[in-house]
Amino acid sequence: MNKTYLIRRLYNFHENILKRHQVQRYKSSICTDINEFIVYDQFICKRRSQSKRSVLVQVSSENSCCDLYSYCSKFGSIINMFHYQLAGSNHFVLTEFDDQSAVSSLLDQSTFIEESNIISVRSPFLWFRSSSSKNKSKLIEEHKFNFPFQTNQTMIEPNIKNIGLGKLDSLSDQMLLLLERTQLNEIGTRLRFLTAMQIENSLKGIFPLSKVLPFGSSVNSFGKIGSDIDLVLMDCKITKHKTSRLIFHGKCMSNSRTHIQRNIEILGDLIQLFLPGCSKVKRISQARVPIVKYSQDFIGVECDLAVSNETAVNMSELLYIFGNFDYRVRPLVFAVKMWAKEINLTNDVPGRWITNFSITLLVLFFLQQEKIIPNIQKLVKHADNNDVRITNEGVNCTFVRDISKLPRTVENKKSLDQLLHGFFDYYASFDFNTNAISLNYGKAINKPEYSALYIVNPLEVHFNVSKNMSSEEMERFRIELRNAAWMIESSLVNTNAFNILDLFKGYEINKKKDTLFTIQHQIRNSNRLVTIKDLFEDNLPTTEEDKRLNKQL
Ligand code: GTP
Ligand code: MG
Repeated sequence: MNKTYLIRRLYNFHENILKRHQVQRYKSSICTDINEFIVYDQFICKRRSQSKRSVLVQVSSENSCCDLYSYCSKFGSIINMFHYQLAGSNHFVLTEFDDQSAVSSLLDQSTFIEESNIISVRSPFLWFRSSSSKNKSKLIEEHKFNFPFQTNQTMIEPNIKNIGLGKLDSLSDQMLLLLERTQLNEIGTRLRFLTAMQIENSLKGIFPLSKVLPFGSSVNSFGKIGSDIDLVLMDCKITKHKTSRLIFHGKCMSNSRTHIQRNIEILGDLIQLFLPGCSKVKRISQARVPIVKYSQDFIGVECDLAVSNETAVNMSELLYIFGNFDYRVRPLVFAVKMWAKEINLTNDVPGRWITNFSITLLVLFFLQQEKIIPNIQKLVKHADNNDVRITNEGVNCTFVRDISKLPRTVENKKSLDQLLHGFFDYYASFDFNTNAISLNYGKAINKPEYSALYIVNPLEVHFNVSKNMSSEEMERFRIELRNAAWMIESSLVNTNAFNILDLFKGYEINKKKDTLFTIQHQIRNSNRLVTIKDLFEDNLPTTEEDKRLNKQL
C-alpha cells in the first residue's frame, strides 16, 4: 500500500464520519423544529417583518461588503448581511436592519440614476457605487471579524450527483442529506418575501391595505432551492379606526373572471414597465387561475403572480401543517419529488403530466395510511373559533392552525427507507382505475368521474387536483412506481444497502437509453448505409456480433 493511497483512505474515512455527524445533527435539528412548531401566521408575519427591514444591494464584488456595511450602518443597526453571486458575475448583499425606520431613511438618502431614459423608482433594490480601493482595504481590516456577514450563499440547486449521497450507506441518511442540501435555504426564503414586498410597495400608495403573499412551495415547507415563487395579491381588510366618521370612498370590485383578467393585464404592465429587475413578463389571463409570469433577475427566479387566490394561501398553510407534523414527512416528500423530477415524470412547464403538488398530496395520503399524519377531517374537528376561515371565493378553509393542540403521539416508528419503499409498494398496487384519493377522509373513495388520476382537492372537494393528467402519463407513472418498488426491494434483500441515485435513473429512461444504444451500435457496426426509413420500419441491419449472440442463445 503506498502513502497516497493510505492518505486518501484516511481522508474518505474522515469525510464519511463528518457526513454522518452532519446527518445526525440535522436529524436532531428537524426533530426540534417539529417540537417547536410555529403557527403559519406567525411564520408569515416574522418573514414579512424581516423583508420590511431589508434591502438588496448589488455590489461590484464580495470585497465591497465591508464598505457597504460601514456606509449602511449610518442609517441604523445592521443585524444580518447575506452575500450571494448569480450565474453571471453579479454580486448581491441582502442587508437586514433591526428597525424598519433605518430602511426608510436609507431609501430617503439614496439617489436616482440621472439618465433621462431611466424612470426613477423607489424600491428595496439598489446598487452600491464603489469607493477607492485604498479605502476599501482599510475597511476590510477594520471590520474583518465584527459584522454579521454570511458569504457565498447558495442560490442554485446543487447537482445531486455531487452532494455525497453515495458515501452514506443508509438510505434514510441519504434522504436526510438530500433534504438538507436541496431544501429552500434561509437566503432563498428571505429573498422570496422581499420579491413579494417589491410588488406590495409599488401598490401601497393607491391600495394601502393590499398585501402580496408568497404561497406554494416557497412557504409550505416543501420548497427547493431555485423553485419558482408563487405570489398572490390580496386586499386584506382590517378593522382599524372602526369608530371614525370619515370613510374613504371606494370602487366597486367584482370577483368575476373578466375583472380578474383585467387586473392581471394591468399588473403585467406595471411589472413590465416600472419595476426594476423584472423581465420576461407574460400575462396568462386565459388560464383557470389567471397569472402574470415574470422573472426577477436580481434573485434569479421565476415568479407567478395571481390575484385574490385566498384558497391557495390556505392550501399552503394546510401543507405547512402536514410538513411540520412529523420529522419524516419532508424527507419523504423531497425524495419522491426528486425521483419524479429525475426520471422526467414531472416537468417545469404545465401539461398532461403529474405535478409536484399532486405528488406531494400522494405522499401525504400514503402517510395518512401509515397513521403518521392525521386526515383533514380530524384537523377540522379540532378547529376552534379563531381557526374559522371562509375565503373571498366562498371556500371554507377551517381547520386547526396550531398543531400543538392536537394529540401527536405517533405509534408508527418506521424508518425513512421503510417508508420510501412503502410508498412505491403501496401505489404500485393501488387501484387507480376505480379509486380516488381523499386526504379529507384519509382513505380511497370511489372515483366521482373518469380521470386518469383522481386526487380530491382537499379544500374544494368537488375538484380533482390532477385533472390535467393523461392516461399515457398515468401509465408511465405506474410503470415507474413498480420499477422503483422492485429496485429498492431487490437491492435491500440482496445487499442490505441501496444508493438513492440508482432510483433516479428510472425504468423508462433506461429503456430509452438502451434502445438508443442498440440503434447506435447497429448503425456503427453495419456494413450498409442506414436510412431514417430503416429506423421507422425497424429494419436495422443485424451485426456479426448480434448473429453470434443469437446463435449462443
Ligand atoms: P413547485 O413545483 O416547487 O413550485 O411546487 P408548488 O407546490 O409551488 O407547485 P406550483 O408552483 O405548481 O403551485 C403553487 C400552489 O398552487 C400549490 O402549492 C398549490 O397550493 C396550488 N396548486 C397547484 N396546482 C394546483 C391544482 O391543480 N389545483 C389547485 N387547487 N391548486 C393547485
Ligand atoms: Mg411553486
